[in-house]
Amino acid sequence: MISITSGKGGVGKTSLAVNLALAFSPEYKVLLVDADLGLANVDIMLSLMPKYTVRHVLLEGRSIREAVVDSGYGFDVLPAASGVSELAQPDSDMKEVLELGLRHLAEQYDLVFFDTGAGISPVVLWFNCLAQWSLVVFTPEPTSITDAYALMKVLYRDYGQKNFLLVANQATEKEGEQYFAHLERVIGHYLGLSPIYLGAVPKDLAVERSIRAQRPLLAETRESKAARAILALAERLKELFNLQEKSLAV
Ligand SMILES: Nc1ncnc2c1ncn2[C@@H]1O[C@H](COP(=O)(O)OP(=O)(O)OP(=O)(O)O)[C@@H](O)[C@H]1O
Ligand SMILES: [Mg+2]
Repeated sequence: MISITSGKGGVGKTSLAVNLALAFSPEYKVLLVDADLGLANVDIMLSLMPKYTVRHVLLEGRSIREAVVDSGYGFDVLPAASGVSELAQPDSDMKEVLELGLRHLAEQYDLVFFDTGAGISPVVLWFNCLAQWSLVVFTPEPTSITDAYALMKVLYRDYGQKNFLLVANQATEKEGEQYFAHLERVIGHYLGLSPIYLGAVPKDLAVERSIRAQRPLLAETRESKAARAILALAERLKELFNLQEKSLAV
């Protein structure tokens, strides 16, 4: 399980999550979980109209399997609910149901991605701890970089998460490397950890167009700058985890 997460909002998590899920499909069996439980985004980006969502699982006793839908792009989605405040901060009973359900579901997949909300709210931290890896997205904005560091600090200090992957979004290769080098120094110095850099995704109008069309970028084009960068990130992840072993789902 890999959580796709960020300190600052609006940096491109959901867009990256949807496209990474597609990049691995259908070669790998992928589940994308909309982990922004009360403010769903994944279904909108994919133009899905799910019958059941995590709301039916947590508040109405449906099984988690009933809520899983085919994205239409070769991977499955566990949709979240939109505008359901009870789900913004699930209580411990809900978290137990969710954790058991997700661990059980994960056995049927090679890879599970969580698209979390932004920030350091308890539910974001919880999803990050459930995942073996936290993939932290940042942009070249100073606030996004300090917030990315703050998130990793809390995740490590309070929850023991040590496995960080970093992606620079809306950044040139040079910017990505420069800001990663900065984060790597700070994280090494203050936390004693070595995050892994996956690469940068450039700012690309094709991303905005695909979001407006409610279709993943990689379903529209594999040739645009951002599409090529996302495919390269997926290759890097495969190498990193030697995914032939298919070891990341559980
Ligand atoms: N590589 C990119 N090039 C151009 N625009 C981008 C890129 N990545 C993201 N965006 C823009 O940023 C916006 C926010 O993206 P997205 O919804 O994926 O962010 P998010 O981190 O999931 O936000 P939230 O924190 O609200 O969940 C998109 O609507 C899109 O217009
Ligand atoms: Mg999002």
